[in-house]
Amino acid sequence: MSKQIKNVEYGLEKIFEGAQDFLPLLGTDYVEFYVGNAKQSAHFYKTAFGFQSFAYAGLETGLKDRTSYVLKQDKIKLVLTTALKSDSPIGEHVKKHGDGVKVIALWVEDARKAFEETTKRGAKPFMSPVVEKDEHGEVVRAGIYTYGETVHMFVERKNYTGQFLPGFRAWKSDYNPSPTGLKFIDHMVGNVGWNQMNTWVKWYEDVMGFVNFLSFDDKQIHTEYSALMSKVMSNGNGRIKFPINEPAEGKKKSQIEEYLEFYEDSGVQHIAVATDDIIKTVAELKARGVEFLPPPPQAYYDEIPARLGVHMSIMKEDIRELQRLSILVDADEEGYLLQIFTKPVEDRPTLFFEIIQRMGARGFGAGNFKALFESIEREQALRGTL
Ligand code: FE2
Repeated sequence: MSKQIKNVEYGLEKIFEGAQDFLPLLGTDYVEFYVGNAKQSAHFYKTAFGFQSFAYAGLETGLKDRTSYVLKQDKIKLVLTTALKSDSPIGEHVKKHGDGVKVIALWVEDARKAFEETTKRGAKPFMSPVVEKDEHGEVVRAGIYTYGETVHMFVERKNYTGQFLPGFRAWKSDYNPSPTGLKFIDHMVGNVGWNQMNTWVKWYEDVMGFVNFLSFDDKQIHTEYSALMSKVMSNGNGRIKFPINEPAEGKKKSQIEEYLEFYEDSGVQHIAVATDDIIKTVAELKARGVEFLPPPPQAYYDEIPARLGVHMSIMKEDIRELQRLSILVDADEEGYLLQIFTKPVEDRPTLFFEIIQRMGARGFGAGNFKALFESIEREQALRGTL
């Protein structure tokens, strides 16, 4: 199987050479978090990130064991789920991992086939295909485990016209903060344990038909103190990208080790969401209390024109404005990208968000890794976990 990727433009449906088509994916359907208090989490994601009230399921809709709030912003759907009783796998998940991502749901044409194709290639089942119905039609869902206790749910909704899923009702709220310009999920990153990266790279190749289209080793991703390795997996049409990180030996504890220690397992490290106006989005998020990593030193911004080279001529943003908001810049052969990382969004130093604006570049900000990780290490030092 060739690993060469040619003629692929981000977002276009050109098949990555080498990717297999036994698992056609239409996109990310939703991301479900298991949390300690979904009502309060929903308030946070509405207020701070500008998500909109979308759907609800709980005691009022006939559920006895849990409550779920669905939030939406453009194409992004977040589901926040909490247990109502102590004897619940949802509660157990939160007890072990803290608030975190349980389900990365993938939108498919045929959920039964997706389940059959992946389980026959070795995926561990989470949920056999289930048909859920209401007056708006039916949805078929089935799930498999990926790293840690994280799940990929396949969602087939071609025969459904309802708000979200059967069992959910539309959620109307009197409190509707405006959106912040978040459009869709660009990529979602998993942290796995020592020497596990290649195991999961192979799992995504064999079980999901993905290809490894970018790799970074510890020579490229390191600071004075710590290191990590990363490989980016993509499905055939390039819509789904899952970088996988593992820690590497360094003088001090890397952010990946810190994550593994506090999540107590492999799991989702960050969700990167795309915007087409990062300056406006980040200014808005900051005004609403979202905390970002501290800015890199002045020298970082002084070096931007040299780093961008030919792309400097197409750059629309004012570097002083980017510096004012601590936004990072990187470039590859095809263009440049702008990105910024939040601090963890819960008390355990685990899950965080990335805001990204791609201006042609298809990379992941490799040129920023050093500045970014030094920034994370300053935060780790404050937590006493470096
Ligand atoms: Fe990222």
